Amino acid sequence: MSKPVYHKAVLLHEAVDGLNIDPDGVYVDVTFGGGGHSREILNRLGPNGRLYAFDQDPDAAANVPDDRRFTLVPQNFRHLRRALRLFSVKKVNGILADFGVSSHQFDVPERGFSFRYDAPLDMRMNPDAPLHAAAVLNDYDESELQRVFSRYGELPRSAQLARTIGEKRVVSPLATTGQLVDIIEGVYGFKQRQSAKAQVFQALRIEVNDEMGALADFLDQLAEVLLPEGRVVCITYHSLEDRMVKHLIRSGNLDDEPVRDEFGKRLLPFKAVNRKPIIPSEEEIKENPRARSAKMRIANRL
Ligand SMILES: C[S@@+](CC[C@H](N)C(=O)[O-])C[C@H]1O[C@@H](n2cnc3c(N)ncnc32)[C@H](O)[C@@H]1O
Repeated sequence: MSKPVYHKAVLLHEAVDGLNIDPDGVYVDVTFGGGGHSREILNRLGPNGRLYAFDQDPDAAANVPDDRRFTLVPQNFRHLRRALRLFSVKKVNGILADFGVSSHQFDVPERGFSFRYDAPLDMRMNPDAPLHAAAVLNDYDESELQRVFSRYGELPRSAQLARTIGEKRVVSPLATTGQLVDIIEGVYGFKQRQSAKAQVFQALRIEVNDEMGALADFLDQLAEVLLPEGRVVCITYHSLEDRMVKHLIRSGNLDDEPVRDEFGKRLLPFKAVNRKPIIPSEEEIKENPRARSAKMRIANRL
């Protein structure tokens, strides 16, 4: 049997076009995964160009290209500036981010990301990270659980699900995705079940990996790490992520507050390249359903 594809890159050409590559430039792919975007960046770099790629999942190392212009940085991208300094890199020409999880992470049952398999409740992208999904489900109090489900999964009746989990875990702690699926199926009717499972699993994954915290830390460093005229390309997969990226590009900060100099002139570190986010074509979505919620924003460092 042929080896399953690690991950099919979303908006591949549009994203790499968005970087407006200088063949001699220094670029960063902060979400290396299967390396689809990275390989396309390398195709467009000349012999003096450089690419640094981050991934916190050690499985991504299997996809490293044999190319002396490429360096894998096996770190969380929330440490972008610090990690690049270790390579004596202070400023770069472009940064690409394709957030969320890879198909590989979903498709390996024992990682616990998917409700399609019965597996341990793990969901860590970095297997050495301290928090896993079982700890969230067993240790968070019911109001915290409800917050996770409604905020990160936009789950209806999240209080009822949190209460039911509270009752079940007293009898025996939750250990497997199968147990969680049984609870969800007991709370939601037949019609709502499928989407409820997707929403609960997404919410838990975001919490376990502190995806919103890592994104905020990353975005806060962009203005400093990008050279003037440097480009950032961000592909997001849910509205909370997209809103944070939009605010950073529009106002230069995540609070979306105008910042002014002493003369009252607005200080804007970025300019959006496209007024509206770019989304995959119908054709791409048909070929790769995981692309369906993608939104891409591109900005220039001023
Ligand atoms: C959607 S996949 C990227 C796929 C990639 N663009 C490709 O073409 O194959 C996201 C990848 O980013 C990694 N990742 C997500 N959050 C991260 C973080 N905070 N720090 C480092 N890597 C992260 C995941 O482990 C995953 O491999």
